[in-house]
Amino acid sequence: MRNYIGIDLGTSSVKILLVDEEGKILKTATRDYPLIFPNPGWTEQEPELWWNATLEALEELLSGTDRTLVDGIGVGGQMHGLVILDRQDRVIRPAILWNDGRTGEEVEYLNSVIGKEKISECTANIAFAGFTAPKLLWLKKHEKENFERISKIMLPKDYINYLLTGVHSCDYSDASGMLLLDVKNRRWSEEMLKICSVREDQMPSLYESYQVTGTLKKEVAQKLGLRKEVCVTAGAGDNAAAAVGTGTTGDGECNISLGTSGTLFITSDKFRVDNNNGLHAFCHADGKYHLMGCMLSSASCNKWFYEEILKTDDYNAEQAGITDRMLGNNRVFFLPYLMGERSPINDTDARGTFTGLSMDTTRTDMVLSILEGVAFAARDNLEIVKKLGIDVKKSKICGGGARSRLWVKILANVLGIELEIPQTEEGPGYGAAMLSMVGCGRYKSVKEACDNLIKTVGTVYPDREISQRYEKAYGKYRKIYPALKNVFPELK
Ligand code: XUL
Repeated sequence: MRNYIGIDLGTSSVKILLVDEEGKILKTATRDYPLIFPNPGWTEQEPELWWNATLEALEELLSGTDRTLVDGIGVGGQMHGLVILDRQDRVIRPAILWNDGRTGEEVEYLNSVIGKEKISECTANIAFAGFTAPKLLWLKKHEKENFERISKIMLPKDYINYLLTGVHSCDYSDASGMLLLDVKNRRWSEEMLKICSVREDQMPSLYESYQVTGTLKKEVAQKLGLRKEVCVTAGAGDNAAAAVGTGTTGDGECNISLGTSGTLFITSDKFRVDNNNGLHAFCHADGKYHLMGCMLSSASCNKWFYEEILKTDDYNAEQAGITDRMLGNNRVFFLPYLMGERSPINDTDARGTFTGLSMDTTRTDMVLSILEGVAFAARDNLEIVKKLGIDVKKSKICGGGARSRLWVKILANVLGIELEIPQTEEGPGYGAAMLSMVGCGRYKSVKEACDNLIKTVGTVYPDREISQRYEKAYGKYRKIYPALKNVFPELK
């Protein structure tokens, strides 16, 4: 039986899966790497650390297995990060990540001076801090010397693909988040490149996510003990890869991911834009399109509260005291804006808050308020989707947060939709392995791979009473951000 490798280059770690041709996960390996916070609200990472972690995890993954059985590798990864290479393909500076908020001025310039209409006409999206184009403008202003040395502009997973194959590639799903792609026509936008003072030869070549871009470089194949004929597919941004990994293809299907970020991902057969640009309009990894709302902090809110504040890593113990009766009756509300927020409020100054604390507030109330706050933020995104006339009745769910069945129950009730739990919550890595299977010819299309490989292990249905309580609670939650909006900039 042939094997495939799926790599998920995440924000806190790289997670790698070895999957056989029938979709069974044979083995997994993970390596962590640190985030750098050079200033409040800024996030960077060293691309070399991604590569070293990937090589180490691959070595662990493959040890004790028959390496000649591996046919293909697919990589999914954190989106929007700016990686810049010089003429010798050396990394010029640390990557500026998707949740970096330094580009407030550049976003303002793009959305207000160039104008949202123009930007949206070129790219189907407006500027958000964290997207790649505003980072290029920031670099041009603040690090002119580095900007002038740029020979290639890459996204995080594409840097790994480049080191595997020697090819500068990018797939349409990930390229969509650069704000440099004409999403509708699947080509670089000449006008946007000009606005950012970038030439097309500085951009990587574009591929569909399931297309093979090359085979392993001789020295990489030797190092890993793999055949050099192993094919590398273009891969996808982690959200599109996760959607593939949960079987979210076709039209009007939904996937929710609870990782470092949280996303609501809706597939679309045809190109469509949210005219208010609250949702991103991107290419999907199945050759079609999708709409997406992105919350910058999701499972990372739990991680922060448990690990940094409560000093524990026993997540189950923290959530164990939460009963059904408590759901929707909490008087504590949490705004999950620890890194500012992208969708739908587009506010880099927004910050996290606990509201409604009193002398009888318990640790459990606060733990619950975080699970609920993220669910309410997801509901904000669902409201935008509803306004577009899209009727979401059910969704898949994946990401580390989906391991908490309590959280899934809260989400199902806050959103008022059914949530289907796929066999594996390893969305992006599994999706990347599936894209590799398509690239290697094991399946004819992403849809065929999904039809054959994706199984759900359970569905969580909303409960009438709990949903009604949450409806009222959401009404209260919605009033908190508008009340604080003007205060946040003063807290900087
Ligand atoms: C999506 C986004 C995040 C990252 C996380 O637009 O910024 O979901 O892809 O890795």
